[in-house]
Amino acid sequence: MEVIVLAAGQGKRMRSVLPKVLQPLAAKPLLGHVLDTARALQARRIVVVYGHGGEVVRDALDAPDLAWARQDPPQGTGHAVQQAMPLIEDGDTALILYGDVPLIGVPTLQRLMAAAGDSRLALLTVRMDDPTGYGRILRDAAGQVTRIVEEKDASPDERRVGEVNTGILAAPVARLRHWLAKLKNDNAQREYYLTDIIAMAVADGLEVVTTAPDAFEETLGVNNKTQLAELERIHQRNIARGLTDAGVTVIDPARLDVRGELVCGQDVEIDVNCIFEGRVELADGVRVGANCVLKNATIGAGTRIAPFSQIEDTTMGAACVIGPYARTRPGTVLGEDVHLGNFVEVKNSTIANHSKANHLAYVGDADIGQRVNVGAGTITCNYDGANKFRTIIEDDVFIGSDTQLVAPVRVGRGATLGAGTTLSKDAPAGELTVSRAKQISIPGWKRPVKAKKA
Ligand code: UD1
Ligand code: CA
Repeated sequence: MEVIVLAAGQGKRMRSVLPKVLQPLAAKPLLGHVLDTARALQARRIVVVYGHGGEVVRDALDAPDLAWARQDPPQGTGHAVQQAMPLIEDGDTALILYGDVPLIGVPTLQRLMAAAGDSRLALLTVRMDDPTGYGRILRDAAGQVTRIVEEKDASPDERRVGEVNTGILAAPVARLRHWLAKLKNDNAQREYYLTDIIAMAVADGLEVVTTAPDAFEETLGVNNKTQLAELERIHQRNIARGLTDAGVTVIDPARLDVRGELVCGQDVEIDVNCIFEGRVELADGVRVGANCVLKNATIGAGTRIAPFSQIEDTTMGAACVIGPYARTRPGTVLGEDVHLGNFVEVKNSTIANHSKANHLAYVGDADIGQRVNVGAGTITCNYDGANKFRTIIEDDVFIGSDTQLVAPVRVGRGATLGAGTTLSKDAPAGELTVSRAKQISIPGWKRPVKAKKA
């Protein structure tokens, strides 16, 4: 199979400097969705027809398995496909997709390809209550497709036809090449219509067949931000459906956003308004509270992430208790049963099993051992304004509240740091280290009183 993706249209109605096919749906460009679908079909070759200003598109999505054909200026869908023909070979079937129809599904296209076989022209069509704007599928008395007429060229009778062309079709490459060479632009829009090949196929005695998509939404195109937002919701609803079908508890499927790949084990529960970006894996029994954002994260079994936590480039072991309002930044690796409470930030650090930082702490560039207690208000001072240094805290350390660890510094196994300590030298194992001004009380001291106005 050879896939040709049409992406040379202008997309002015997006009112954006970003080309239409690069507009994101679930954080991936529209065209990226179509290319990934083509890849899933094991296409022999994928040719993208791009247009004026399209070098940004090419730069954004180029890959070794893609070929690019430039169409400038665009002169219709038939003209667009013509530009791709020098890059594909006879003897195979060509599948034509649109770069701005992102939800088209693999099973639908597999059925379309099966219907085309290696000698038929297969069209993907849908019925619409309001077919305005679309090309209409015209059939003879026996129900055989005879041709497609564009809205602008259609008679009032033809406009009443409710079966429309989605634009997606499959045809033998050699035949397609032959028909494209004969296209004329003697129509209302002065364009070379791809749809004119249908009447040519019928005249050549080729069988023209139609199939319907699994879901109507698969054929929806994007022309403006309103339609983009509608497709985003449809796409997210489909993802949520896939998750709930697989046994994930999604508290409200309408309030879930997956912008990447979310892999869930058994009995995972996701509360409302969570966003998952990149690749996120939630092992069995993970519970994610409301309003969490997780990006590129692996979360161990039974771990609970309380509301408003933000987790990025992080690996967590099993049975951790995180948040509310916890933030883990890139390079965070947590063992099992680690607790991070409210307003605790961890960056580029490892925290081993059973260690806890329950309130208001900054742990950056640190290696924390097992069963360590990090008191409220503890800060690793990892940055001197120019360079970053590591803090090492060995197993079974107890760090009192409001401690600053001025890195590079090491706290030996079993050490205790007194509250308020500013640690600038290594703390020996097993001992209490405290740096604190001696407490004094001044007997008879009086508070100042306001001077009386004269
Ligand atoms: C086309 C079909 C119409 C169908 C409709 C479905 C033709 C003549 N008409 O309409 O029957 O109902 O799609 O949406 O084929 N493109 C190019 N180069 C061009 C023109 C278009 O690459 O010169 C691309 C666009 O980027 C888009 C797709 O082809 O991805 C369809 O173009 P669009 O203008 O939206 O469709 P119509 O021609 O109006
Ligand atoms: Ca057009």
